[in-house]
Amino acid sequence: MNQFILLLLVTGVRGLNLDYLDPTKLQTKASPTVQRNAALRIIQSISAHQAVEIEVDPTLFSDKKDVFSLKTSKDKLIIRASSGVAAVWGFNHFLKNYCKSQIAWQVQRVTIPSTLPEVDETVVANDRFRYYQNVCTVSYSFLWWKVKEWTTHVAWMALNGINLALAPVAQEAAWAKVYRQLGMTEQEIDQHFTGPAFLSWLRMGNVHGWGGPLPKSWHEGQKNIQKNIVELMFELGIVPVFPAFSGHVPKAFERIFPNTTLYSVVKWNRFDEDYCCGLYLDPNDPLFKRISKMFLTEVTGGTDTGHIYTSDPFNEVKIQPWSTSLVRDTARAIHTSLSEFDEKSVWLLQNWMFVSDPVMWPMARVKTLLTSVPNGRLLLLDLQSEQWPQYNLYDMYYGQPFIWSMLHNFGATLGMFGNIVTINKDVYEARSQNGSTMIGIGLTPEGINQNYVVYDLMLESAWRKGPVVDMEAWAREYARRRYGCDAASEAWKYLLKSVYSFNSLNKMRGKYVVTRRPSFRLKPWAWYKSSDLMEALKNFVYINDTNCDCEGFKYDLVDVTRQALQYRAEQLYLKVLIDRYSTVKTLNATIIQFLDAMQDMSLILSESEHFSAINWVKDASAWATNLSELNTYELNAKNQITLWGPKGEITDYACKQWAEMFLYYYIPRWSLFLNTFLEAQANDNVWNEKTTQDYIRVVVEETFTTRPFDKITPSMDVRVLAVKLYEKWASIVLDDLPMSMVKVDSGKRTTFADVDFSSEVDDPTVVMLWSTTPIV
Ligand SMILES: *[C@@H]1O[C@H](CO)[C@@H](O)[C@H](O)[C@H]1NC(C)=O
Ligand SMILES: *[C@@H]1O[C@H](CO)[C@@H](O)[C@H](O)[C@H]1NC(C)=O
Ligand SMILES: *[C@@H]1O[C@H](CO)[C@@H](O)[C@H](O)[C@H]1NC(C)=O
Ligand SMILES: *[C@@H]1O[C@H](CO)[C@@H](O)[C@H](O)[C@H]1NC(C)=O
Ligand SMILES: *[C@@H]1O[C@H](CO)[C@@H](O)[C@H](O)[C@H]1NC(C)=O
Repeated sequence: MNQFILLLLVTGVRGLNLDYLDPTKLQTKASPTVQRNAALRIIQSISAHQAVEIEVDPTLFSDKKDVFSLKTSKDKLIIRASSGVAAVWGFNHFLKNYCKSQIAWQVQRVTIPSTLPEVDETVVANDRFRYYQNVCTVSYSFLWWKVKEWTTHVAWMALNGINLALAPVAQEAAWAKVYRQLGMTEQEIDQHFTGPAFLSWLRMGNVHGWGGPLPKSWHEGQKNIQKNIVELMFELGIVPVFPAFSGHVPKAFERIFPNTTLYSVVKWNRFDEDYCCGLYLDPNDPLFKRISKMFLTEVTGGTDTGHIYTSDPFNEVKIQPWSTSLVRDTARAIHTSLSEFDEKSVWLLQNWMFVSDPVMWPMARVKTLLTSVPNGRLLLLDLQSEQWPQYNLYDMYYGQPFIWSMLHNFGATLGMFGNIVTINKDVYEARSQNGSTMIGIGLTPEGINQNYVVYDLMLESAWRKGPVVDMEAWAREYARRRYGCDAASEAWKYLLKSVYSFNSLNKMRGKYVVTRRPSFRLKPWAWYKSSDLMEALKNFVYINDTNCDCEGFKYDLVDVTRQALQYRAEQLYLKVLIDRYSTVKTLNATIIQFLDAMQDMSLILSESEHFSAINWVKDASAWATNLSELNTYELNAKNQITLWGPKGEITDYACKQWAEMFLYYYIPRWSLFLNTFLEAQANDNVWNEKTTQDYIRVVVEETFTTRPFDKITPSMDVRVLAVKLYEKWASIVLDDLPMSMVKVDSGKRTTFADVDFSSEVDDPTVVMLWSTTPIV
């Protein structure tokens, strides 16, 4: 304790130094004309007929923050902006607020009236940065994209003012060259790289080898993406974040550098010897700087960078022997090698390890890490600020700037939820807090293509001067933009009240009874009432306004129906648990009903392309140039969303509520599990849960990866089906699910020791401690 007080006294709070993050130095690689043209191209691709005039003028930056102004004159929209990205952002502001349109990830509705509304508005961004991406997003959501999809996505970033984002770069192609120069054999390189679906974790030192070897077509394709997309980002004034060396090295280094100190990395999740436990290079060895420089030179290809580099040496890894001096030396080595490569460098670091393992990260060690880098040369991502904010725990990170980020989902798992209340409040409070070092907002989801509403709201906190006061009115507008009609206001009132009101400390991992491995020990929970969700569904299915006939409406109709059935299935699961002690007949009836709910989920999901597993697999196979590559790509696609590892190391972590997944994976395993139990009950036979699970592993889970499956075609009109399912399931009366246990009172946080995570002990992922108060 004394030591802690002393530390505070000695160091004190340091002032914020933002010289290295000045946007007029970072966002101006491309000339105003180039930025203007890039912005115009995006705008014209959205609305070819609209007359839009753009001026990009970097002197418009206000207090180093992006600015745009919109003005309509006659039939023309005039945009003046500090950067290309700000101009496109301004255009979307116009579309959203004056034309009631929406350009979301999966659906878009753009309607510009022939007589333009009168507009004269200037918007100054609240912060220096709008940041985008988690280090995992590329593996869960962008995995199979090619230049075309990336280009569309960069346009989406610009439309939302995102001016700092991870660049898609051909990291492994660069590493392969570096490794060869260092003396690794082709075989060693092949054994090191994972397959495409697991690269995020290879890069952070969590796993190696699984799903590989990485095909040649992959490297070529990634190089092509890098070339096109990084250039596009520069043209728009978006800062592309390049990767840097973190210290994790392949096992072959033991052979090549026998005299170098190599630390060992402890097993991550359940990966065994073949795939786990890489090596960590002594940060004091001159080799650290040498490799760092080789990699940066190779990966940037000698071209400009955005001066901001990402490196996560400690993300869910335990390095042994572990010490504060290793932490300090690593921080210094990463910073020094970066600044020797680029004197303007800033190191971007995720704060995740402080959240996930507070025992490894007592307060003094966190402070050592963050203060070993000169002030302003480190930029922190407060990664899941909506649930586990860390900026206050670590004294606004001791003067280093940070970005308030919403992580929202893990593994791109599907299910409707969001922390609307928190994100509409905490962002504004953190920004205006005395001594705040917050310099941006960010989206850091592990995956996208879901719950667009929370991302849309979060992005608005980049320019709104205060929280949305009337959230129901805001949701009404959101629905109007998305559907083009007003009929869904009532439905959205109930969605706000139910799925989007999450505000608890329970870990939100997107795994529900239906998508989890069958067991009688699951403990479903919820934070809202079944009746509120059913009201939302009712108000959706009875909408009979042809103005609402659009992709966005259909998407949400499917999603809400799915969500209501998911809730019903969990209630029925609890009934199954009870009925195990009843008659075989009663139990049989409940089981049939539970499986029927899953069957209906599959039916409703098959109504929309967006909820099909087919594209995921098809896009993967499109990368293949021969049969062995095809096998690799398909294995990667299927394994990631099911077993996640050769032996189900983190089974279902990235599960997907897609139609075919229900038909070929979730229903078969629950059906086997429950029906073998029922048979045993009927015949007075012994039944063993573990044996049954092992059997399911072989006949369903492992088989899924190797067998092709067909797309499920819709059975009837989506609205007819939704009404039918609503009427079938609404009338069934069952108890609500147990509520989540801990509520977050504003300003009063609970320590992890007070949080009862017992409902999550069956979670097959590693049970971790979650920090809300640091250990001194
Ligand atoms: C397929 O392509 C890979 C390169 O990724 C090559 O190593 C392999 O030999 C090829 N296999 C066949 C069957 O042509
Ligand atoms: C390692 O050190 C030993 C003993 O000092 C020396 O003989 C050997 O050449 C060194 N090996 C390498 C690869 O530097
Ligand atoms: C902010 O902190 C400074 C220094 O601790 C103090 O002088 C000032 O009064 C505080 N301002 C507010 C609004 O609390
Ligand atoms: C929807 O409205 C049309 C015309 O107003 C009517 O004919 C039809 O029966 C309505 N459908 C439902 C399901 O209410
Ligand atoms: C369960 O019910 C179904 C449908 O009525 C029936 O076909 C099946 O034999 C029953 N199973 C048992 C074990 O009673």
